[in-house]
Amino acid sequence: MRTQVGIIGAGPAGLMLSHLLHLQGIDSIILEKRSREEIEGTIRAGLLEQGTVDLMKKTGVGERLMREGHFHEGIELRFNGQSHRVNLHDLTGGKKVTVYAQHEVIKDLVAARLNVGGKIIFNAQEVSLHDIETTEPKIQFHYDKDSELQEISCDYIAGCDGFHGPSRPSIPNSIRKEYQKIYPFGWLGILTEAPPSAPELIYANHERGFTLLSTRSPEVQRLYLQVNPNDDITNWPDDRIWKELHARLEINGEWKLTEGPIIQKNIVPMRSFVCDPMQYGRLFLAGDAAHIVPPTGAKGLNLAIADVQVLARALDTYYATGNEELLKRYSTICLRRVWKAERFSWSMTAMLHRHPDHTPFEQQIQLAELDYVTSSRAAATTLAENYVGLPIEWQAGEKEETIAGFLYNE
Ligand code: FAD
Ligand code: PHB
Repeated sequence: MRTQVGIIGAGPAGLMLSHLLHLQGIDSIILEKRSREEIEGTIRAGLLEQGTVDLMKKTGVGERLMREGHFHEGIELRFNGQSHRVNLHDLTGGKKVTVYAQHEVIKDLVAARLNVGGKIIFNAQEVSLHDIETTEPKIQFHYDKDSELQEISCDYIAGCDGFHGPSRPSIPNSIRKEYQKIYPFGWLGILTEAPPSAPELIYANHERGFTLLSTRSPEVQRLYLQVNPNDDITNWPDDRIWKELHARLEINGEWKLTEGPIIQKNIVPMRSFVCDPMQYGRLFLAGDAAHIVPPTGAKGLNLAIADVQVLARALDTYYATGNEELLKRYSTICLRRVWKAERFSWSMTAMLHRHPDHTPFEQQIQLAELDYVTSSRAAATTLAENYVGLPIEWQAGEKEETIAGFLYNE
């Protein structure tokens, strides 16, 4: 087989890249190790930045998102028994965030690709990368464990295979610098069949630990609790989860958390991670394959989408003009934005969680920071600007929310 861009992984990064390349007339094949049902059913992120939503709309995959997504103009920060609203809309000149589950984004992108004959090979086994330093890199795989070895020759390979995929380790150790921070806590996430308890997301700092109240639909809510990352989900029967949520979300005054049956629960660890560079030879990493953020800033999926916008434009420029300059700068352009999202995600995590090693002094500093962020317009603006999403900076002074305007003149 032969294609222009071989893409490993059908997560948000791989699928959006394939979609953008298709709109630019560039051929790609996606190799995904899981089944379509699995990728369309995995519960993960929920919050989309304005730029992600705009891109989906402008590239024709935003129809259901506009119908079923929930648009939020603010968030609540809760601490010391009080709730404070951060008005994202006012502080950012009219921007919003949208709650629309990651697996719904996946469904929309898979449908868009398959509707126009796009090639996604599901259940691909033993995917491996070869000759990435040459002008004809190859991807090898098996259709299933008994079938013979297959090979795809490509011009370029996009490693969109998440944190544990084979792409990043294909960059030699001597080239790759990795930065990492492991946090001493994880998130226990639940889905519950209940009506929303609040109109906007609530991020709560409490002495028992952090809690986040989010939503999915008028019937299903998403909530998270800070827990020990090594804890086992079997230690968390439903009544313990509700007891903890009630305690951590309590405020002085009227407010009630509505319970419902818990239909899904799991624990995820938290880490910050960056791989520099994000490219080597003809291999380009995008999304979680190159970087991880703790979910407190709601940035992971959005970063993945930003990376592939840069890559799609760089590939478009190369195929249209033969100019490789943007491709060469891919990692540099992405990492500027990635590090800012790393900083924001780390700072939200630090501000909102209970740290096992914090002294009473550090706890007071944390509360002072929350007090500052919710009482100073300058501090709130900084939070809001990062939360709704920073623009892509192609070079000094050149910023764009999405590349949609450049690619597809409306
Ligand atoms: P992935 O979604 O991980 O996709 C990679 C794909 O590659 C997978 O389908 C995988 O099966 C496939 N793959 C792996 N190995 C191979 C292989 N060997 N061969 C072939 N295919 C392979 N982000 C936000 O922006 N907002 C949020 O609100 C948010 N909340 C989150 C909440 C939680 C609890 C968690 C865990 C994450 C959250 N995130 C959030 C992060 C977000 O889910 C990820 O950053 C996002 O999925 C990254 O997309 P990706 O395409 O880079 O990688
Ligand atoms: C979610 O709805 O899953 C969600 C929202 C905001 C976050 C993280 C996760 O910061």
